[in-house]
Amino acid sequence: MAKPMEKASIKKADLQQLLNGQVANWAMLYIKIHQYHWYVKGPHFYTLHQKFEELYKEVDQYMDKIAERILALGGSPVSTTKEILASATIKEDKPGLDAEQMVAKLTADYELLIDEMGLAMQVAEEHGDDGTADMLLGMRTSLETHVWMLKSYLGK
Ligand SMILES: [Fe+2]
Repeated sequence: MAKPMEKASIKKADLQQLLNGQVANWAMLYIKIHQYHWYVKGPHFYTLHQKFEELYKEVDQYMDKIAERILALGGSPVSTTKEILASATIKEDKPGLDAEQMVAKLTADYELLIDEMGLAMQVAEEHGDDGTADMLLGMRTSLETHVWMLKSYLGK
């Protein structure tokens, strides 16, 4: 008779793992977008330098929100570089990207996050955790807008 509980706790653990993957990926992006902000060069410097700043500020908010949601659910968000590197699916770039490559990499990273958030939302909903699903939906909608804008910038 213990099975339903067991199933529920497995789902809960999976959700926390997925959310921790998100925290790790946002932490990676926080660093990566700062790198783009600092090192972008070329005729679109002012536009991109400013846009990257706007985006890393958003990343900071989302990372914090998800980490605090994990705490509210009784879990432990990743909080060391070692844990972040072990949990992140977003990879570091090779140095020396040009402006277009930065925008293309960021678009791909956002698309990865959109997919992963979709999965986390599904698991949260299955677990009856509408609060987490709603939080992720808002973030994912914002990322979808960024992807459209970044692709438009690239002429795609
Ligand atoms: Fe700055």
